[in-house]
Amino acid sequence: MDNKSYITVAVVTLAAGLAAYAVYFDYRRRNDVEFRKKLKKEKKRVEKVVAQSKETELAASTSDITPAALREALKQVKAEEGPKTPEEKENYFMTQVNAGEQLALQGPKFYLPSALAFFRALRVYPAPVELIVIYEKTIIEPLIMELTQLDVKYRIEAYYDFFPPKRSNVSVELRPTSPGQPPRQVLVANKDFAAGEVIYKEFPVVTALDPDLQAKGTHCGHCLRPIQPGMSLQTPSDSSSSPFHLTYCSKACMLASKNQSHSLLFTLDPPLPQEIQTQPIPAAAQEARREAQAKFAEYIKTEGRLSPLLVARFIARQVAGETQKLVRATSPATAANAGDSENDFTDSEDVAEKYVLADHLERLRYLEIPPNKTEADLIKGVLSTALPGLEEFITEEKHATFSGKMAYNAFGVCFGGGRTDRPEPKGRPEDVEKTRTPYGTQGQVGSALYTVSSYLTHSCIPSARPSFSSGTAEMSIIANKDIKKGDILTIAFVDVNQHANETVVECRRRRRYEIARGWRFSCGCERCVEEGKDMTSEEKANVKDEQKDESKLEDTVKSYAQAQTFEQTDVDGTD
Ligand SMILES: *[C@@H]1O[C@H](CO)[C@@H](O)[C@H](O)[C@H]1NC(C)=O
Ligand SMILES: *[C@@H]1O[C@H](CO)[C@@H](O)[C@H](O)[C@H]1NC(C)=O
Ligand SMILES: *[C@@H]1O[C@H](CO)[C@@H](O)[C@H](O)[C@H]1NC(C)=O
Ligand SMILES: *[C@@H]1O[C@H](CO)[C@@H](O)[C@H](O)[C@H]1NC(C)=O
Ligand SMILES: [Zn+2]
Ligand SMILES: [Zn+2]
Repeated sequence: MDNKSYITVAVVTLAAGLAAYAVYFDYRRRNDVEFRKKLKKEKKRVEKVVAQSKETELAASTSDITPAALREALKQVKAEEGPKTPEEKENYFMTQVNAGEQLALQGPKFYLPSALAFFRALRVYPAPVELIVIYEKTIIEPLIMELTQLDVKYRIEAYYDFFPPKRSNVSVELRPTSPGQPPRQVLVANKDFAAGEVIYKEFPVVTALDPDLQAKGTHCGHCLRPIQPGMSLQTPSDSSSSPFHLTYCSKACMLASKNQSHSLLFTLDPPLPQEIQTQPIPAAAQEARREAQAKFAEYIKTEGRLSPLLVARFIARQVAGETQKLVRATSPATAANAGDSENDFTDSEDVAEKYVLADHLERLRYLEIPPNKTEADLIKGVLSTALPGLEEFITEEKHATFSGKMAYNAFGVCFGGGRTDRPEPKGRPEDVEKTRTPYGTQGQVGSALYTVSSYLTHSCIPSARPSFSSGTAEMSIIANKDIKKGDILTIAFVDVNQHANETVVECRRRRRYEIARGWRFSCGCERCVEEGKDMTSEEKANVKDEQKDESKLEDTVKSYAQAQTFEQTDVDGTD
């Protein structure tokens, strides 16, 4: 790999992961003269070191350091306990940059220790782009780049060791699914389950209530639960200035909703926790915020689609989650509150410490959707008026990918057998949103995104089914039949039951049509193959049965897969 491409991978990964953190530091850089001065000074000093090393012709070679030595060194650095609070991080950063300079001056023997010191600094500094500029043209730059690349590779490769967490009873594995297709990631049972048993329960990352129910206020805007008459709650700001009304079933839901996204997206409350945001937002900025929110709320209402809300809430929750991690780090007393619940798999300590929500989303399949500038700009407007700088993380392309992820992975939350009073969707059939549910999207009360369950694949004879028996968007995955450890778990994305007025062939055609339209693949399950055998050649001719699958993986994710193959051939240290 050439330098440029791995710098890009490193920067993209770190930047996406540390979005909120970067915003915080960006804020410090803009507002804190001292911090800015310190950074400038460091850049000058590094430049001086470069000049000196040229003078003494120390520029010998850093290529003497073997990849094995580099890997070993990296392992050691990563085993070190890092600084926790923002203040500690800042001090640590300055100390390490300093040490790096001193060591670089002492000659080739000290290049590796020097690079390691710079690398330690790089690990805690949340704006790697800027730091890479500081290191540019220094003698140890190639070493730092290599370390960064290795680090990114390890973090990526280790992801599926941590996720899904052990207690979920499942893991993600690369398996061949249908003949002629490359292996893909599927969800596999980690132990035996009897028919009817709950395999795991999972809380959603984000939800969105169907617009008709939202308008009526009959269901909770957070957990989607039907609200008992007279028990509904609204936040004071919701009922007055907020352009987007939400009704909640409980105080807990209201708080969680505000915490995770509502405050940032639809209120004028401070977007950062008070521990971080010390200055009040100027009135003019609040006015801009109010306008952006009103426009977005209006768009959601007239569109009637849930995707814009899911996307905006996802980004907002990531920002909220990262800033709360910062607060927890500053005041350890509240650390015990970490984690919403044991069924929120993204929030367990191991996972939340190493990966952010964007890491989870990044790995999921998506449908290619044309970029929509109008919609991207509206979301951008809401986020950037709340936290200037956030707009950099939602380009038009990124927004399209996010929307495609929601389209491919969102589940329909259905209670009982699904509701029957959902208004017929408007618009062209190909624009109608579809969600994964064996009860049919028309039976849902809302849509929700789950991380682990996104890896469930479709089958028309599914081994498991989703259930919302707790009465909220918490989803239970239940075994349809006896399942053995190592078996692939499948669910039906659409209603696969043969209706009273359908023949076998009609049922087959209907479900395959829905799958093709909603998820853009041609089902190759046993049932489809078996039932296809009985079709006359004329019927077969009417169905294009080639094994197509148009769902995508992000290029970064694909290049990690390549990096893994590369890593395996590279164990003996030949680069
Ligand atoms: C995993 O399975 C056990 C029973 O085998 C169950 O008690 C536990 O709740 C399951 N985990 C989740 C996350 O549902
Ligand atoms: C988030 O919710 C918790 C309660 O679940 C609350 O104690 C905390 O203050 C909230 N944080 C913010 C920033 O609102
Ligand atoms: C974006 O989406 C809106 C609402 O669906 C639609 O009116 C508009 O034409 C779309 N714009 C583009 C460029 O696709
Ligand atoms: C079966 O009935 C449903 C309505 O109950 C209708 O929408 C569907 O088109 C019918 N299917 C066939 C094959 O006639
Ligand atoms: Zn609720
Ligand atoms: Zn099928």
